[in-house]
This record gives sequence, C-alpha cells and structure tokens, in this order.
Amino acid sequence: MRTPRILMCPPDFYGIEYEINPWMSRSRGSTPERAHQQWRNLHDALVKLGVKIELMQPQKGLPDLVFTANAGLMFGRRFFSSRFRHEVRARETPFFDAWFADHEFTVEHLPEGMYFEGAGDALFCGRTLFAGYRIRSDAAGHQHLGKTFKRMVLPLELVDPRFYHLDTCFCPLAPDEAIYFPPAFDAYGRKVIESHIPRLLEVEEPEAVRFACNAVVVGKTVILNTGSDRLAAGLKKWGYQCVFVELDEFIKAGGSAKCLTLRLDGEEAAIWN
Ligand code: ARG
Repeated sequence: MRTPRILMCPPDFYGIEYEINPWMSRSRGSTPERAHQQWRNLHDALVKLGVKIELMQPQKGLPDLVFTANAGLMFGRRFFSSRFRHEVRARETPFFDAWFADHEFTVEHLPEGMYFEGAGDALFCGRTLFAGYRIRSDAAGHQHLGKTFKRMVLPLELVDPRFYHLDTCFCPLAPDEAIYFPPAFDAYGRKVIESHIPRLLEVEEPEAVRFACNAVVVGKTVILNTGSDRLAAGLKKWGYQCVFVELDEFIKAGGSAKCLTLRLDGEEAAIWN
C-alpha cells in the first residue's frame, strides 16, 4: 500500500486580516493559541493514520497560506498552480511554486486572465474532474486543464456565497462515491453530480455550515470538523469511520480540514492513470 502524502502549512501567521468570503470578519478575529492547537490536532490525527506530512514554511503577511488546498491542482508529478481571484491570496503563489519546484514537481501555470483556485475548486472523482466555478475559479480555467491532461471536466456552478469553493460543498470519497450539499448548486449542477456519481450521501444545512463536506479522506477514514453526527452515521453505514477535530478557528476564515491539506499522491477518489 502506498503512503499518503499531504502538504500542510503551520498557522504561525494565520489570522483574519481581510474579508474575501462571508465567513471572514476582521472584528471577530481568531485566537492564535487555539488555532495552533487545532491545526496541531489535525496534523496529529493524519499522522496517526499513517500520512506523511510535508510542511511549508509559514510567511508573515500571508494569513491564508495555511489553506494549502488552494495552492494548485495535482496530477501525477504535475502541479498546476492556482491563479487566485483576490490579490491578497495571489501573493501566496510564489511560495507554493517554489515548494513544488524544490520537491521534484513540474510547475505549470494557466494562461493569464483565467482564475483558478486549485484543489479548492477542482476535485477528481474517478477519472473525471469536477470543477466549481463562478465565485472564485472560472469555467474557462477548468476547461483549459481538462484539455491539457485529456480528462473530462464537469463544471459545476456554485450559487451560494457561503459555499464559495467546491470543496466546501462536495467531497469525493471513492471513484463512485461522494458526499455533497445539494443547495450549493443550481438544478443543472445537481443533475450533473447525480447522473455521474452512483452513490451520493447528502449533507443537511446545519452540518454543511459546519463544513461537513470539507473533509479529508484517508482510506476508509474521514476527518472533519466536529458536529456532523448525522453525516457520520451515514458514512458508518457505507463502511467509513469519522474522526472529528474541532476546527472552528479556521471556519472563521471559511476553511476546515480539507482546505488545510493538499494531497500530493492523489486523492483516494482520484484515478490518475
Ligand atoms: N480565507 C480563505 C479564502 O477565502 C479560505 C480558503 C479555504 N480554502 C478552501 N479550499 N475552501 O480564500
């Protein structure tokens, strides 16, 4: 069995310094010690599952660098670097690119003028790339990627600003299984998901707003923020066990477990070859 490899970045300079999604409020802020502890608990939970964690160097002035899911999209040894919509996050790109170049990945960029926010908005389920667009990424960026690595891309319009990245409302578990929060998509998007993925588990609103869909899948274990017992019960029936890690300090920035990680060796649900 291969060893799962995940990129994370310690929250040394994490904080709410700007507001680019409805979860962020500068006046509320985050508590650094709590954020550190929560991040550490997530890290340790992954290590316990046998994951090899790679660490980025935190950077002053880049509070969202902790959300490594947004660095870019992995495809084998190829790293497709994000083009962030907001300038405050675009400043992270040189650091992500440097890390990947230093770790034997090929760093590739999308053409200018196409926004793309990496694994936050682009998730493989089987051989197909499910791609969220409108709020952060552009559909054109996803199409460009599909053509580049010759995979079918299914663009999904995100209609609720609270679920601004695809990974906040959709989570592939296996090539034929996913969890999702249907109201985050329009009728067409829901139909696309329902007609392409045979087994779907629906998340309900009270758990969706606790970022239940923003989960890290390692084998048959699903790691997510606390408070999603209904989803956990559903997953149990499907043979998965849940590990809860309190991550409310990161929800203040609009992120949770999945956003804090980037799977380098391919998600469980992804078929790359
Ligand atoms: N504050 C960050 C932003 O708005 C949070 C990113 C969360 N990442 C994710 N993959 N959903 O960009």
